[in-house]
Amino acid sequence: MLHSVPPEFDIKEPINHKTYLIDGKIGKWDGEYSEVKSTILSSKKNIPYKLIGHSPKMDEKHALKALDAADKAYKNGTGKWPTMKVYERINCMQKFVDLMKMKREEVVKLLMWEIGKNLNDSRKEFDRTVDYINETINEYKKIDRDGATFQNNSGVRALIRRGPLGVVLCLGPYNYPLNETFALLIPAIIMGNTAIFKPAKHGVLLIAPLLDAFKNSFPPGVVNIIFGRGREMASPIMKTGKVNVLALIGHSSSAISLQDLHPQKNRLRLVLGLEAKNPAIILDDADLDLAVNECINGSLSFNGQRCTALKIIYVHEKIKEKFLKQFCEKIDDLKLGLPWENTLLTPLPEPHKPKYINDLIEDAKEKGARVLNKKGGEISNNYVFPAVLYPANEEMKVYKEEQFGPVVPVIPFNDIDIPISFMAESNYGQQVSLFGKSEKKLGPLIDSLVNLVCRVNLNTSCQRGPDVFPFTGRKDSAVATLSVHDALRSFSIRTFVASRDNETNKEILRKLIDNKESNFIRTDYYL
Ligand code: G3H
Repeated sequence: MLHSVPPEFDIKEPINHKTYLIDGKIGKWDGEYSEVKSTILSSKKNIPYKLIGHSPKMDEKHALKALDAADKAYKNGTGKWPTMKVYERINCMQKFVDLMKMKREEVVKLLMWEIGKNLNDSRKEFDRTVDYINETINEYKKIDRDGATFQNNSGVRALIRRGPLGVVLCLGPYNYPLNETFALLIPAIIMGNTAIFKPAKHGVLLIAPLLDAFKNSFPPGVVNIIFGRGREMASPIMKTGKVNVLALIGHSSSAISLQDLHPQKNRLRLVLGLEAKNPAIILDDADLDLAVNECINGSLSFNGQRCTALKIIYVHEKIKEKFLKQFCEKIDDLKLGLPWENTLLTPLPEPHKPKYINDLIEDAKEKGARVLNKKGGEISNNYVFPAVLYPANEEMKVYKEEQFGPVVPVIPFNDIDIPISFMAESNYGQQVSLFGKSEKKLGPLIDSLVNLVCRVNLNTSCQRGPDVFPFTGRKDSAVATLSVHDALRSFSIRTFVASRDNETNKEILRKLIDNKESNFIRTDYYL
């Protein structure tokens, strides 16, 4: 079948992206390139993936150049950027977000081609990121204002603020290549750190239109953007021991292998958002229509390729039949389309994914599950129609593995200890969705669930947003907390100036403030 692409979203010629940003200079790569191919039009094997561009396959030498630039700009905390006035850093960020906004259409188009995200969600990802930056600026002003007060205790006067940590290596995921990466990068740099950022495997070309904005907004070395394979670029950087913060949203196995390369582990701070296996628990008195709708969105928006997606459903025996019937019918009604058609289901960007999902389905079938919905498991070259696997059990791969794709295992329960034990034994502890009405049942359950995960969603599917709320997890799901406010904390440390409370010191402090001699000791308020 030939697909027609609306002219405004078409990519007529491959985008040959040749540049990178190191030490404030846009460099032109003259080495090897990786092809960037899109799966979205290739529903059949005989339609090859569309070549949409090329991106630099940079090498270790350039990875280390980027590190040197970040290291030089930080200069052990004595560089221009980490010692700059807060409002000057804020001005740089404001300039960046203004320039970034001009690239909306280009980035949105590439989000659709590179990762198959539908048009509305691609626009949402861009706009949410812009909002995130603006909110970060406001929050930083607030933190700065809160730090503008002297404290006096036991004869010691102190001015306590938050200071940067150093060089940040920033690695984001393919499912939110803009939003989640920037939710690390932006708070990291505004706090005075310097950064090296390497985009994920998918969602690379969409970063290219923003290189100029970074170059024109920040001093040299503050943000360095390189392209290439993780192993070739991130590993040598970690081995030097010069990275102070590893900021990664992705898989725990990558986070562990990168940490292991660092020679001085106690110096390394971690800000990690990792995988999850968020369950839905549907109690016998749940509002069925609501539970069905929330579970569909929760498990299948962006085809389940979200760390917060519902990845296993526990439904009470009493209502399982009704729930499964409605759930399966509604899933079979979902439309699969191209990103600009704004369907919930869109092609999978990873070429190996359909086979992986199909293998999970086959494995579950061998171990006693059936595919309950009529279209479940229908496979094409770039998609697998969402499959409801029932009854799932602990022998199946899909019970433990984070599927990150369109397959939904469902397990019936009579005894609430069944889902609770699943959560207690799981390696993950991000969120849960709990559906029910009786406060008598919900109350004690909530009291346990909040200690197994970090967010209990009542009659609501799991999600990260709104971004002002804390996003974190227990066990292998996260290290540190992200939210507009928490991210600023995660990328900084409290540091302060203390002095014995006597006349001489008071006089010095007064002069420092009045004559504006220090960017740290000051009491001005940024409005
Ligand atoms: O991949 C995980 C994302 O943080 C999920 O964010 O809940 O806003 O889709 P979301």
